[in-house]
Amino acid sequence: MCGIIGYLGNRKVSEILLKGLKRLEYRGYDSCGIGVVDGDKLIIKKGAGKVDEVSKRENFLEVEGKVGIGHSRWATHGSITKENAHPHTDCKGEIAVVHNGIISNYRELKEELIKEEHTFKSQTDTEVIPHLIENEIRKLDKPQISQEDYINAVKRAIKRLEGTYALLVLNKNFPDLLLGVRNENPLLLGVKEDECFLGSDISAFLEWTKEVVPLEEGDMVVLKREGDKVSYSIYNLRENRDVSSNRKKITIEWDIETAEKGGYEHFMLKEIMEEPEVIKNSAKVSKEEIEELARCIRDYSRVYIVAMGTSLHAGMVGEYWFSKLNKLVIPCDASEFLVKGIVDEDTLVIGITQSGETYDTIRAIRYAKSKGAKTATIVNVLGSTATRISDITVMMGAGIEIAVCATKTYLSQLMILYRLFIEYGKIIGKDMEVFEREIERIPGYIKEILNNRDTIKKVSESLKAKNYLFISKGINLPNALEGALKFKEITYLHAEGMSSGFLKHGTISLIDENMDTVALVPPSSSNLFRSVVSNIEEIKARGGKVVAISPVEIEVVDHLIEIPDVLEEVSPFLYAPVCQLLAYYKAVELGRDVDKPRGLAKSVTVE
Ligand code: G6P
Repeated sequence: MCGIIGYLGNRKVSEILLKGLKRLEYRGYDSCGIGVVDGDKLIIKKGAGKVDEVSKRENFLEVEGKVGIGHSRWATHGSITKENAHPHTDCKGEIAVVHNGIISNYRELKEELIKEEHTFKSQTDTEVIPHLIENEIRKLDKPQISQEDYINAVKRAIKRLEGTYALLVLNKNFPDLLLGVRNENPLLLGVKEDECFLGSDISAFLEWTKEVVPLEEGDMVVLKREGDKVSYSIYNLRENRDVSSNRKKITIEWDIETAEKGGYEHFMLKEIMEEPEVIKNSAKVSKEEIEELARCIRDYSRVYIVAMGTSLHAGMVGEYWFSKLNKLVIPCDASEFLVKGIVDEDTLVIGITQSGETYDTIRAIRYAKSKGAKTATIVNVLGSTATRISDITVMMGAGIEIAVCATKTYLSQLMILYRLFIEYGKIIGKDMEVFEREIERIPGYIKEILNNRDTIKKVSESLKAKNYLFISKGINLPNALEGALKFKEITYLHAEGMSSGFLKHGTISLIDENMDTVALVPPSSSNLFRSVVSNIEEIKARGGKVVAISPVEIEVVDHLIEIPDVLEEVSPFLYAPVCQLLAYYKAVELGRDVDKPRGLAKSVTVE
């Protein structure tokens, strides 16, 4: 999974590419590179390391030229080396390609190309692409080829690729052209009169334009410079026709400031601190869509939620909300859905995905669609793949999230699901007023927790164990799983989440001075309150240290983080920020790269 950016216009392209790559770094950040055409030269600069390191080492900014491509890599094929960093070129060093995705038939293609005397420098799947294009040009057997010949050669080469890809192609012999292709990996076109951008997401070029054309699968964009103007046309390789007039421009409301750290040390903290605001937003967006989706939940006998990571945990909270209304909504790890999902025309499949690009979630939605199911997506990114393949799109309204680990978007997903729960209840004739009234209060509860962050910091710093358990019961069990996920993903300390009931069945034997427990104690009105407290006592009896996130004081625990005592149905909103802050402060204390934890990526667009 990688980030790509391309530019054709009248500015110094290396500056644009560098800034764009830094914004895309969250998609993958083990190596990066740029390719620029300057005069009659194709200049490639690349290397292993983060964007800042590589760009300084290789001096990206010394490159002139006004057309170019850039890439930030998260390795899938081939180790993290300079040779494997993108762009990749053909034998003559005239054609450069950057790619996000996987070419599944690259081995066959590579063998074939080697027989035709192409030489490869990397272990990547991507490198077959420039060679395939070179081969198609060679076959024309002309001393000079036209722009049209070249574009057709690229089309023929692309048609040989199997797998998923968003890619950009640059050719030093055609400095007034830049080509981009989208096939199951994200690619957006940003437009202006005298310049155009191509990028894996909006943040790559949001600084320069808010006018965006989302592309469909199979689209090939041709950016062309004529004098001072840059125009675009879109040809769909699946339909074999020009589709420029079918692709509608949209205006993105986000501005780049929303993506800045806003005075905080890390994006993660900034994004946690935004939660009250985000909740307010999510409480307002997508009214019609939520009503429509709630009706579908009533009308379809089988309802699944498919999601990955944090989004799946939000879906699991949703399951508890709906079970309170006697409606079975089954959360399913999207990567398992094709194996165990039972899908027919009486099935509704709801994807939850912040990015709208997670491979497994997209695949599950597509699978559901192919079986005749109704599909919906709860998503944060306008124009993303999920929004275009689902029958119903519910926007979360959380704004850009830059830190790799999801925080505010989780709360936002919870709010959308909570509103669905209320809407569904109303449709089936329940009195949901008591829950509806809480919508306005939830931001205030969260503010109270965030204002208490110094206490959470102190507790976090007092934890010295190497292993952690996060336990709860009922509707907050998914929050315990999420708490453990957040903790391990950014501190690199081992953490496990489970129901406090399950603990006795094996795991409790691990309790000692190296295993601390964080207990999410249900609200005092919940009939699960006593049960979790007695599980805490069992841990204490075995000499374990316990931190309780609790609405009331509990004597036996070592540390208490108090939260407002609210209705059980509202409580999921409260535990999540505490767990996020516990993880955040521990990671900072340990000197971790909080916003970009090792080996992870914000949006996993590969299997
Ligand atoms: C990655 C991210 C997680 C995220 C998951 C699902 O693993 O690191 O934070 O929860 O993908 O992402 P999605 O965009 O589908 O919500």
